[in-house]
Amino acid sequence: MVTLLLIVFLNLWAVSDAQNVKVERNVFGYVGHQAVLRCQIVDLDNSLQVTQITWMKDPASAKINLAVYNPDLGTNYPTDTGGRIHFRQPSDRDATLVIERLEMADEGMYSCEFATYPDGNQEAATNLTILAKPTNDGTAIVVKAGPAEVPVAVCNSANGKPAASISWSGNVEGNASYVTTKNSDGTFTVKSEYKAVPSGEIDGVQITCSVNQQTLKQPAAIPITLSVQYVPIVIIEGYDDNWYLGRDHASLTCSAKANPSAKSYTWLMNGEAVPSSAHVVGHQLTVNKVTYAVNGTFTCQVTNSLGEGRAKMDVLVRESPVDSGSTTGAIVGGIIAAIVILTVLVTAVLIFKRQRKNMTEDDEDFEPPNYKPPPPKKNVEEIGKVEKTEDEKMESIPLNTTYFETSTDDGDRIMVTQYQDEPDLNTDLKSPNDIIPGEYLEQENPIYNDLSYPEPEHRKSQEFVSKGMYV
Ligand SMILES: *[C@@H]1O[C@H](CO)[C@@H](O)[C@H](O)[C@H]1NC(C)=O
Ligand SMILES: *[C@@H]1O[C@H](CO)[C@@H](O)[C@H](O)[C@H]1NC(C)=O
Repeated sequence: MVTLLLIVFLNLWAVSDAQNVKVERNVFGYVGHQAVLRCQIVDLDNSLQVTQITWMKDPASAKINLAVYNPDLGTNYPTDTGGRIHFRQPSDRDATLVIERLEMADEGMYSCEFATYPDGNQEAATNLTILAKPTNDGTAIVVKAGPAEVPVAVCNSANGKPAASISWSGNVEGNASYVTTKNSDGTFTVKSEYKAVPSGEIDGVQITCSVNQQTLKQPAAIPITLSVQYVPIVIIEGYDDNWYLGRDHASLTCSAKANPSAKSYTWLMNGEAVPSSAHVVGHQLTVNKVTYAVNGTFTCQVTNSLGEGRAKMDVLVRESPVDSGSTTGAIVGGIIAAIVILTVLVTAVLIFKRQRKNMTEDDEDFEPPNYKPPPPKKNVEEIGKVEKTEDEKMESIPLNTTYFETSTDDGDRIMVTQYQDEPDLNTDLKSPNDIIPGEYLEQENPIYNDLSYPEPEHRKSQEFVSKGMYV
C-alpha cells in the first residue's frame, strides 16, 4: 500500500493542454487493491456551469460509459462493474472516481469529461496501469561434466507486470538467455537460463540471479549453487619412496574428489588383488611388514554413480632405508648449518657496523640506511648452493636427478640441497603421484584436465620440512 501511495503521488497532478480539467496522466494499481482516478475542473472565476460529468473507459475505441454525474439527478453507473466503481464524493467541480478490487482488465485509458456552459465539453484522460508483483525463484540445473555449454542454472520471475528484468552475477563465465511469455491475465513470466561449460571447477560455485521489477523495492537476489557431476578424480597420497624390507606401517591413501560423492574404493596391485600383507580399510592401504611382495604398481579405483576413476602408484621396495646414510648426511648438514649461522652473524655485524658508520656520517641530516640486509633465508640458499656444487663435483651425481628416483645413499642429502636452492624444481620433479595419462583418457572426461589437486604440492612441502631437519 505504501508503494501504491508513493506511485500515486509521484505522478504529477497535471492540467491537460488548453483544458481546465485536471487529472493524473498515469495511475498505477495492484490487482485486488483500490485505484483512485482524480479529476477536477478548474474554474477560478466560478463562471462555469457544469451540467454533467461522464467517465468513459477507452474513449478512443470501446467508449464504455462507466459513470455519470448530474448535479440535479445524481449518479448513475451505466456499465455493470459489480459495484466496484463509484464516484468518491461527486460535485460539479470534482469527479474523482474510485475503482475497488482492481482486476487486470481494468487497465486502460479513462476519460473524465465535464459538460459545461458556456465553454462546452472539456475532458482529460488518465492511463491506468495494473501492476502485479512477480513470484521469483532460481535453481541450479544438475548437469554432467562436458565440453559444451549447457544451462547450469535457471531463474524464473512469474506473473509479474510489467515484465521483470533478470541479470546474473558471479565468477562463472557464461551466457544468459531470456524468454518472456505473456500470460492470459496480462502478466508476464520471464525465464532466464544461465549457460556455462560444465567443468568440475564450477561445481559448488555460487552465482546470483537478480530480478528487478517496478513493484519490488529492491532487486530480488537469488543465490544459486551450481552442481556439476563428474566421475571421481583420484590420487594416491602418502608414498614416501622409502619402503624398505622389514619396515612396518607403510601406507597409501586414496583420495577422490567426486560429485555425486564416491561410493566405493578398490585397491589392486599389478592389476590383481593386493597381496595378503596389504591391509585395506576403505581408502587406506597399510602394509605392516614390507616384503618384495608389495614391490609393484598399486591402483586405486573409485566409483560414483557416474563411473569409475583411478590412480596408480609405483611402489619400489628397497633393501634398506634411503636414509641409512644419515650419518654422512648429518655431518654435511651440520657443516652447512654452521656456515649458514656464521654467514648470518657476519652479515649482521657488517650491517650493524655500516649503520653505525652512516649514523655518524650523517649526524645532522639523519636518514635510514639505504642498504637493506638480505633476509636470512637468502643466505641459506646462497650458502647451500656453493656447498652443493663442490660436493657434486666430487661425487659427480647429476643435479637434475629427481629425488624420488634417487637410490643412492646420498639421495636425501641431494634432495635437501635441491629444495633449498631451487624450489622451482619441484614443479619439474616427476611425482610418483602423477596420473598415468592413458588411464585418464579412458574416462574421456574433460574435467580431468580442468581440475587440479593441491595435495601433491602439499605433500612435497611436508616432506621438505621433515627432511630439512637434517640441516
Ligand atoms: C556466449 O555465446 C556466444 C555465442 O552465442 C559464444 O560465442 C560465447 O563463447 C559464449 N560465451 C561464453 C562465455 O560461453
Ligand atoms: C621392484 O620393482 C621394480 C620395478 O618397479 C623392479 O625394477 C625391481 O626389480 C623390483 N624388485 C624386486 C626385488 O622384485
